[in-house]
Amino acid sequence: MTDGAWLRSLPSLAGVAPAFDPVGLPADPVALFDAWLADAVALGVPEPHAMTLATVDADGVPDARTLILKGVSERGWAFAGHRTSAKGRQLAANPAAALSFWWQPIVRAVRVRGRVEPASDAESAADLAARSAAARSGIEPGEWMLWRVVPERVEFWQGRPDRDHVRVVYRRDVDGWNHDVLRAESAAEEEARR
Ligand SMILES: Cc1cc2nc3c(=O)[nH]c(=O)nc-3n(C[C@H](O)[C@H](O)[C@H](O)COP(=O)(O)O)c2cc1C
Repeated sequence: MTDGAWLRSLPSLAGVAPAFDPVGLPADPVALFDAWLADAVALGVPEPHAMTLATVDADGVPDARTLILKGVSERGWAFAGHRTSAKGRQLAANPAAALSFWWQPIVRAVRVRGRVEPASDAESAADLAARSAAARSGIEPGEWMLWRVVPERVEFWQGRPDRDHVRVVYRRDVDGWNHDVLRAESAAEEEARR
């Protein structure tokens, strides 16, 4: 049994937050994600391209697992896996997902939500071809798929030593992207709008 007091004794948010000025942010969340991923690499975050992918099955039951990010562009956040896997079946039934990145050494997290679109067969084949021979072994043609989360909401969370954590929330509307900067006191308002 894991004891609550013991868990509370473990450090959390123990990384070193880099400077982050939420004024003058890019209009598009992809640009901020690119900048934060570059920071994560430069500041030594291990495997910053690992992320949690959450999906929902045909009965509405959620599921989540760790995947590797395959690309980010205006088309979305790309990931790949087996078409016949649990995630493949869940996405066929319910093409929506959330992604979560946690970059512990720099106390940053990113969340992405949106619908999921399959990439073209050629893009999926190209992703499979780019894998190592060992990783390609035994995968039938057409079995490997690339998908993209087309973002509707992207949240950037910067933890701070004084606990005045900053959240920047981008939402897509008919005119493009808007973003809000949330501090602890405004987070409740954001929750009410979701
Ligand atoms: C760091 C890490 C990276 C992974 N990357 C992938 C990946 O890119 N694609 C994939 O299908 N599974 C990847 N996996 C395995 C998945 O976590 C998962 O076990 C597998 O995709 C089956 O999930 P499912 O049964 O929910 O479909 C990775 C696991 C870890 C720990």
